[in-house]
Amino acid sequence: MYNEIRKGVIPAAGLGTRFLPATKVVPKELLPIVDKPTIQYIVEEAVASGIEQVILITARGKGAVEDHFDVSVELEEVLKRQKKEDLLQMVKELSEMVRMVAIRQKEPKGLGHAVLCAREAVGEEPFAVLLGDDIVDAEPPCLAQMVEVSRQKGGGVIALQRVPETETHLYGIIRGERVDERVYRIQEMVEKPKPDQAPSNLAVIGRYVLPPEIFPILENTPPGKGGEIQLTDALQVLARRMPLYGYEFVGDRYDAGDKFGYLQANIAFALKRPEMAGRLKEFLKEVIR
Ligand code: G1P
Repeated sequence: MYNEIRKGVIPAAGLGTRFLPATKVVPKELLPIVDKPTIQYIVEEAVASGIEQVILITARGKGAVEDHFDVSVELEEVLKRQKKEDLLQMVKELSEMVRMVAIRQKEPKGLGHAVLCAREAVGEEPFAVLLGDDIVDAEPPCLAQMVEVSRQKGGGVIALQRVPETETHLYGIIRGERVDERVYRIQEMVEKPKPDQAPSNLAVIGRYVLPPEIFPILENTPPGKGGEIQLTDALQVLARRMPLYGYEFVGDRYDAGDKFGYLQANIAFALKRPEMAGRLKEFLKEVIR
């Protein structure tokens, strides 16, 4: 059942208030890391992990996110005329990357509600959820690692990373029993607990492989932390009914939803570009001095 995870849900309906004024008009998903919008990193990871269809959960004013993955006839014409073959190839690949459907979340009722909006599009099969704020640089990709774990264990899988005690209030935190290297059977989940209420320092990172049984649970999940319908609360119920695993993925993760994390991601990805790595290192040394 978990052999094939074909559909990936990407919630992209948030207002992006943490990045105002940049996000007043531009959706936060389109803010670039070096020269590629953050959401493109997410879609590329999904595709590299076997996802065939992306279900984008959007909202008013987010049309440009869909446009980014659509064909731009005018742009292609211009690039063709100017004989910019490499760029033409790049924009073509972008529009052919994946099948995408967009569903509107009409009210900002939380991450759990956003995932619930994908119910009909997902149907009765296990699926992935990828959150746009978490950019993971990994090989194999983070989601691909998780699909492999779900295949072996036969259950839902949630990405985990250890965080300092001072940061538990930013994440869903789990309590689990270690069943394998890097794998935990989840017993409890708490959304954004204070350090003294956190059951561990294992935090949920924005990648999930979930069974369709999550949908009826989400439908009955009352608003939780911050008055929002929390995915974490529904997962806690799911974990009591069927095995749900946490997996400490291998890779570097950046919180692109946070200004500092966003800067870190820009620097780290720029340092991976041969055409600018040398110059950037020199520049960083200079500014520090
Ligand atoms: C969401 C989830 C949280 C998870 C986090 C990972 O929170 O609710 O459980 O740890 O993503 O990035 P958000 O950061 O959207 O507030």
